[in-house]
Amino acid sequence: MVKICCIGAGYVGGPTMAVIAVKCPAIEVVVVDISKPRIDAWNSDKLPIYEPGLDEVVKACRGKNLFFSTDVEKHVAEADIIFVSVNTPTKTRGLGAGKAADLTYWESAARMIADVSKSDKIVVEKSTVPVKTAEAIEKILTHNSKGINYQILSNPEFLAEGTAIEDLFKPDRVLIGGRETPEGRKAVQALKEVYAHWVPEENIITTNLWSAELSKLAANAFLAQRISSVNAMSALCEATGANVSEVSYAIGKDSRIGPKFLNASVGFGGSCFQKDILNLVYICECNGLPEVANYWKQVIKINDYQKSRFVNRVVSSMFNTVSGKKVAILGFAFKKDTGDTRETPAIDVCKGLLGDKAHVSIYDPEVTEDQIQRDLAMNKVSVVWDAYEATKGAHAVCILTEWNQFKELDYQKIFDNMQKPAFIFDGRNVVDAEKLRGIGFIVYSIGKPL
Ligand code: NAD
Ligand code: UGA
Repeated sequence: MVKICCIGAGYVGGPTMAVIAVKCPAIEVVVVDISKPRIDAWNSDKLPIYEPGLDEVVKACRGKNLFFSTDVEKHVAEADIIFVSVNTPTKTRGLGAGKAADLTYWESAARMIADVSKSDKIVVEKSTVPVKTAEAIEKILTHNSKGINYQILSNPEFLAEGTAIEDLFKPDRVLIGGRETPEGRKAVQALKEVYAHWVPEENIITTNLWSAELSKLAANAFLAQRISSVNAMSALCEATGANVSEVSYAIGKDSRIGPKFLNASVGFGGSCFQKDILNLVYICECNGLPEVANYWKQVIKINDYQKSRFVNRVVSSMFNTVSGKKVAILGFAFKKDTGDTRETPAIDVCKGLLGDKAHVSIYDPEVTEDQIQRDLAMNKVSVVWDAYEATKGAHAVCILTEWNQFKELDYQKIFDNMQKPAFIFDGRNVVDAEKLRGIGFIVYSIGKPL
């Protein structure tokens, strides 16, 4: 029986391993983490992350061939294939602070693997890492040369939160990079066989290590660049009377452009786009490519511009001040179908409104009050468990996450209970603006005529 161990039971490690376990009953999969509360949650009825379809997959194989444990060393020592799926945040201090990836967690995982291993291992980079990381990892793994053979593979993950299970069941592609040596090719083949249980062969791409590492950063940069491009257009639409949804539809019909990732918004969030682009920028700078670095930096600048443009629009529309006014925030997660708030644009928007002394009342169906309070550290906000409660007595409503339920609210009831004039600022273009104007709201949609 092949044994897999995954270090890091987070948004990637948990769902990815659960899907491998459910698709490969003959493989034993153990997910390990240093965080006891996280492992306890994976072993409980209330999983640590909200992801549609995840509960069913975990329940189908937990205790059979899927296990969650804090006994990191034991399971690493026993495994044939070790996935490393630890967090790789942006460095906050020292060389490269604010841009470079912080590989502290990765390095400590690699050192631990080197210390406890007694047999040959395939070590898989699942986390998103800078190009050339495998070279550094190789040095760490072999530092106490016990004669063990390590093969390092890059197998970046492309799942998106909210659709993780769908994405894992039917990935557009699986990418595996390895050394171009007989041992390297053998390791690539071994990992390919795991995925081949459910992914068609033609969707499993194999490349050299550096191409695989760089492709992950490139994919996220391209995706984020599309959003910044359409968000830049949304500002021009507002200035000219064009409608960004019509523009997106028209350009997306060109098969060379395609329709996905062209929804204008209050800005992209999530733990990865900004972090990975900053990392890419840093790598370009380190390689003496300032023009390339500046090109990608612009994607983040437009995203910051979009978030502050939204706040400015709210304040300027409400007679240049929100001081003492109640503003309801509908949606705090960085996108629908997740409780994740990492880098959510809602944080910047709330901080902007609080800076102008607004009273902010927040409702999100999946984000806990604790999380919101932590994200808005020290700022006084109220968190409620109902959209009607949040909007009661409010001067304005800001929709910041595209939760389906926000399309179906009783807006007449909301209007009746609000201060007048009643404003709606739709940061996700989810409501029917014309219908709401019929009720009496003043509606601002991203990239659309007033
Ligand atoms: P996460 O923070 O949710 O999970 C990481 C986990 O690793 C944490 O539970 C942490 O306790 C654990 N950990 C850290 N160091 C450890 C160690 N030495 N030993 C054992 N456990 C350790 O992070 P995530 O969102 O799952 O992201 C992980 C990686 O995957 C990142 O590099 C990220 O860029 C990448 N990625 C994330 C997504 C996503 O949608 N979140 C998608 C694709 C790729
Ligand atoms: C993104 C990528 O889509 C994944 O392929 C990748 O694996 C992952 O990052 C990662 O490396 O972490 P994720 O951040 O989970 O996934 O979610 P997305 O669906 O990409 O959304 C990111 C942000 O962009 C959200 O705030 C979303 O609302 C916003 N967005 C997305 C738009 O504003 N407009 C769009 O058209 C699409």
